[in-house]
Amino acid sequence: MLKRTHTCGEITADLDHQIVTINGWVDRVRNLGGVLFVTVRDRYGKIQVLFRPDDDALFSCAASLRGEDVVAVCGRVTRRPDTAIKEDTGGAVEIIAEKFEVLSKALTPPFYIHIESDVNEELRLTYRYLDLRRQRMQKNIQLRHQVVQAVRAYFNEHSFLEIETPILTKSTPEGARDFLVPSRLKPGKFYALPQSPQLFKQLLMVSGFDRYYQIARCFRDEDFRADRQPEFTQIDYEMSFVEQQDIMRVTEGILKTVFKNVLGITIPTPFTVMEYEAAMDLYGTDKPDLRYGLTFTDVTDICKDSAFEPVRNAIQNGGVLKGFRVPGAAPRYSRKMIEEMETLVKKAGAKGLLHAKTAKNPETGSALLLKTNFDKHLSPSEAENLIKAFALEENDLLFMVSGEKKTVNVALGVLRSEIAKRESLIPKDQFCFLWVVNFPMFSYSEEEQRYVAEHHPFTMPDLTELETHKNSDATKIHAHAYDVVLNGWEIGGGSVRIHSREVQKTVFSLLGIDESSQKSKFGFLLDAFQYGVPPHAGCAMGLDRLVAIIAGEEYIRDVIPFPKTTSGICQMTAAPSDVENEQLEKLSLKLIKDAR
Ligand code: AMO
Repeated sequence: MLKRTHTCGEITADLDHQIVTINGWVDRVRNLGGVLFVTVRDRYGKIQVLFRPDDDALFSCAASLRGEDVVAVCGRVTRRPDTAIKEDTGGAVEIIAEKFEVLSKALTPPFYIHIESDVNEELRLTYRYLDLRRQRMQKNIQLRHQVVQAVRAYFNEHSFLEIETPILTKSTPEGARDFLVPSRLKPGKFYALPQSPQLFKQLLMVSGFDRYYQIARCFRDEDFRADRQPEFTQIDYEMSFVEQQDIMRVTEGILKTVFKNVLGITIPTPFTVMEYEAAMDLYGTDKPDLRYGLTFTDVTDICKDSAFEPVRNAIQNGGVLKGFRVPGAAPRYSRKMIEEMETLVKKAGAKGLLHAKTAKNPETGSALLLKTNFDKHLSPSEAENLIKAFALEENDLLFMVSGEKKTVNVALGVLRSEIAKRESLIPKDQFCFLWVVNFPMFSYSEEEQRYVAEHHPFTMPDLTELETHKNSDATKIHAHAYDVVLNGWEIGGGSVRIHSREVQKTVFSLLGIDESSQKSKFGFLLDAFQYGVPPHAGCAMGLDRLVAIIAGEEYIRDVIPFPKTTSGICQMTAAPSDVENEQLEKLSLKLIKDAR
């Protein structure tokens, strides 16, 4: 084999006149009759190779090259005529071929690799190894590597130890379903794949490794979304003898290093801190995108005696009336578009959508008129107060929803992000970081008829609130938990941990985990808590989400080398797949009839 002396990216004008050998894939072939141009590509770039017709054997051999063949080319680096210079193929120079070998022939690929084109995702995932050859994916995977290296650099500089934790383990509840692995040696028993290394990293604190980190693979059998995969990676860390603020500073330090090392950007720290309540009240989500405004205003007081029955009833039943102003948008929204918005908020749980448009009063020429879909029920003073409360100006569009507070917030939150997209209010290349703190410790699940942990059961509750509310309304208890949010994505979450056996047992009880389940599920943790436990806290960031945001990708699967489809399938290997009956027997398993 002609052994490579340079990568394609290294062939520059500095090598003018030198003999070099490159190895790579044929990106493109152009046969201009007399001369043959072959662009060769590798991970580092592209370079144009010129085959002259003087050497018949060489030329005719090269003429049979096809896209994606793997070749080795030896030749002299030569300056290209000015008119032919193209940045993507070596710029100022090309290689005049003297020798070449075909190292591997390629079939015609099922989609274009050398140019960006819209390719069906199923096809991309079936031929992922080809998809990964495309420039966009090459960039994303390299970016992912750079992010991981920056993360490691930060941790190594700050005395963290990288420690692995088991993949075959016992279930740790993080709010999703477990993936189970049957045990051959213990028939009828199962390992669970870790939803996160949560308990192991806490036990490492008990062991005295006071600064731990891991680029940890996690597994959760949950419903799919753009920002979720069943198998994903966390930047996971834990520290002893620290408080919430310390973890927040470390997290900011990691992100600062990543953005500096990878993008050359200095992000301002410390990040803005927002209470969970305020985030919900102003943005209708616990992961607000702060790159744009459209914050909510509560106008319950203005309309509490509204002549419009649904609003009056909602308020009288303890509900609220809230909304937001879309500046200057009135002329752009037809009745049909507003109906689409109404469908959206209804899907999110709201009963309906009130809207209003402002226009200049033709009589006075200055005061604003409010044209609404509840005009006849709106008194002049209510209209005036709404104009004031929302600081409305001419041609503004106003949306409002009434009802139970949480539902109103969530529905308006969904509407807010839709409007931001439609109105192109989201600036590109801007990174808005935010801490959301002071989460409730528990929410009440109507479906399960019990409290569930908002973060996870190992989070430290506010101890005074725990004492006050544990026997009455546990949803009033707050947690020492924090989420880090970037551009509307939750990129990380963590908490101060419980390090007292008694508090941990109280929390388990509140979650409906009785004594015997506590023993069988978490006995090892409760035991460990009897042998000297340092106060500790930690956090985990979603690596895939972080890389996707930096890469400007909408779906995390575009920054994961071999992701699953939305239905949990590896399109390339066709996993999950059938197994031989013999394998099942060895695992003491039998499929329920017709399961396949
Ligand atoms: P949490 O469950 O909040 O916390 O997860 C931490 C971060 O991991 C990312 N993430 C995901 N990314 C892709 N696909 C998924 N299915 C997925 N699920 C979560 C998110 C999230 O913010 N053990 C705790 C952390 C701690 O308390 O230290 C935990 O796992 O970016």
